[in-house]
Amino acid sequence: MVLGIETSCDETAAAVVSDEGARIRSSLVLSQLEEHRPYGGVVPEIAARAHLDHVDGLVRRALDEAGVEWSALGGIAVTAGPGLIGGVIVGAMTAKAIALVRRLPLAAVNHLEAHALTARLTDDLAFPYLLLLVSGGHCQLLVVEAVGRYVRLGTTIDDAAGEAFDKTAKLLGLGYPGGPALERAAASGDAARFDLPRPMRGRPGCDFSFSGLKTAVRHAVAALPQPLAERDRADLAAAAEAAIGDSLVDRTRNAIRRFRERWPAGSALVVAGGVAANRALRRRLDELAAESGLAFVAPPAALCTDNAAMVAWAGLERLRLGLADPLDFAPRPRWPLDPGAAPVRGAGVKA
Ligand code: KG4
Ligand code: ZN
Repeated sequence: MVLGIETSCDETAAAVVSDEGARIRSSLVLSQLEEHRPYGGVVPEIAARAHLDHVDGLVRRALDEAGVEWSALGGIAVTAGPGLIGGVIVGAMTAKAIALVRRLPLAAVNHLEAHALTARLTDDLAFPYLLLLVSGGHCQLLVVEAVGRYVRLGTTIDDAAGEAFDKTAKLLGLGYPGGPALERAAASGDAARFDLPRPMRGRPGCDFSFSGLKTAVRHAVAALPQPLAERDRADLAAAAEAAIGDSLVDRTRNAIRRFRERWPAGSALVVAGGVAANRALRRRLDELAAESGLAFVAPPAALCTDNAAMVAWAGLERLRLGLADPLDFAPRPRWPLDPGAAPVRGAGVKA
């Protein structure tokens, strides 16, 4: 049984996960939404302090809810990056202290790897599989070959998909966090009313770009009467959701072609990360996978957005392979899953 801790962004989370029986014994997520809402986005300093206030109590509750004592744990896993470094340090120091006092092996987990391996926690999926990883900070297509082995097929040259949702939502006055708010607004909208660009669609390769879409939404908003009417807001939200979806599907289609050629043993398309909670996107990727003869795996929404069960699971997988980390591991603000991938050309390149 492994205790997992997640503090790399604006959710403080703790969970206990086992590889026998019901895997998730407890999974607690404390959102800092209210702390950050007045600022319309995550403030790193506020996030780090909030993690510090809550992490101890949350770990205690995660053990209580799982009904386990410290002595039942076989290891501890913590997100060691990439993320907001103040928060990552809070989680890392907490995990180091527990590992030292309880003499537990420690796994310093890459947050992206935790998202990437969630499909094995929920669905026992075998390697290799194709992964669309779409979150607030990342937008990548990766082949997951094994624990610790990733081949990046594409990444964003500007914004991440989650940022595209969040920034569009902000332009529409939908508040923070943008993804879920935009999805709700889009439900009653007419996606065909506004003709928004589909960046990168039809181009070879698997890279993404969303900054042009954001600019187009800004212009569309500026051309409408202010403040925005409910109908205008819903129609634009639906159009933006469709455009982001089109772009993600188009790039994923190219990636499937490559995956098929180079990894013929692979049989599944997986979506992970916060944006994978989006229902329209899940539906469309399900269709795309079916067309391509691939199984489609999308973890439940609560395991797509940040949580500690995925961190505990990634730690469990690593520790099972003997990949424990020393107590002096360093928290990492940047930490690419495929360090060998060629840098992409474009403004504001993300790791
Ligand atoms: O993985 P995550 O919880 O945190 C990061 O590691 O970034 O992803 C957060 C992102 C945010 O940009 C949020 O707006 C987006 O996921 N998101 C959604 C939905 N739920 C969360 N985007 C679209 N539709 C949703 N339902
Ligand atoms: Zn995440």
